[in-house]
Amino acid sequence: MELNYNDWLDKTYDNLLTKMKVQCERTGDKIPFFPKDGRYIDCPMPDGVAWWANGFWPGMMWQMYNATKDEMYKTMAERAEDRLEQALHDYEKLHHDVGFMYHISSVANWKVTGNKSSLNRGLHAANLLAGRFNPVGGYLRAWNVSHWGDDVSGWAIIDSLLNIPLLYWASKEIKDPRYEMVANIHANTLLKGIVRPDGSCNHISEFNSTTGEFVKGIGGQGFGEGSSWSRGQGWAVYGYAIAYKYTKNEEFLNAAKSCAHYCISNFAISDWLPLFDFRAPKEPIKYDSGSAMIIACGLLEIAEHVPELEKDLYIKSAINILKKSEETFADWDLEKDGIMGCGTTMYHDERLANMAFVYNDYFFTEAILRLKNKDMDIW
Ligand code: GLY
Repeated sequence: MELNYNDWLDKTYDNLLTKMKVQCERTGDKIPFFPKDGRYIDCPMPDGVAWWANGFWPGMMWQMYNATKDEMYKTMAERAEDRLEQALHDYEKLHHDVGFMYHISSVANWKVTGNKSSLNRGLHAANLLAGRFNPVGGYLRAWNVSHWGDDVSGWAIIDSLLNIPLLYWASKEIKDPRYEMVANIHANTLLKGIVRPDGSCNHISEFNSTTGEFVKGIGGQGFGEGSSWSRGQGWAVYGYAIAYKYTKNEEFLNAAKSCAHYCISNFAISDWLPLFDFRAPKEPIKYDSGSAMIIACGLLEIAEHVPELEKDLYIKSAINILKKSEETFADWDLEKDGIMGCGTTMYHDERLANMAFVYNDYFFTEAILRLKNKDMDIW
């Protein structure tokens, strides 16, 4: 049966253009993570500008600028990036998510405008990320401190897979293979130590940071050890697909496909709604629209790299996922900031749950623009 999605896509694209303009005009220089009482608030998390998700706002502005050529988005992206500069000087607060922070802000700026300061920021961020490499364990250390553990020097987490595109970009940009080497070793370590044979993933793997030996898996933001946190699945699907884009290493494409097939099978039994964890108890039902958006972007990326007869599986699944989430969770009320509601950060923490996080909207925007052929090749 042919999936006719063009009417939905056109309507959604129009809604996106209208709401983005209105909410951006009133957001000004804030760097949002979520709205409170219908309005975005500035850097609401304790880490301030160093918060891991702060690149998604300027990233979204670059995507919107690429699609519309409206100078407002360019100005907003540049202003947010200027504020993120401060975080580069606060090493203690930083983490492996410098990829999320500086790739889709500074590197995007460099690609669009040729701004040398942005190039420098992107390269500094790549060096900070490469500096987290543990050569004995072959992994990038995730955090300096953690919510759950004391010694996190041996922790590598699935989210890193969408941070390593910054390393691939740096190698290409300055023609130095070291960054790509680090990214490849890390991606291979996670293939053995965090991705399971059925395409499901742990959130966290702990290694002995002195000997490099694998110690154990940790459930992290998901339901528990052995479960399958859907946003983490998204980081794996999209991350391995982009690793393939840069390296043409078939093992990475196969990893992306295996994680994707696992996700598609699980979405098919939840009526395409995004369960927060694919291996959590039936009740209470918890959703995460953010995971749906990231997985959809990953599926669309895979579709670009597989033979013609394989493409439909990924494209149609991505559209089913996007459409169902849009129809169920999107809030197009122009009086309220944020679009894609029902995002949840952690299974066992109700404080940041059922909200419109900025990364939900970033990946939603990227996916819709990609389907309209108006996205920026940002990663
Ligand atoms: N990278 C953190 C998260 O996905 O919540």
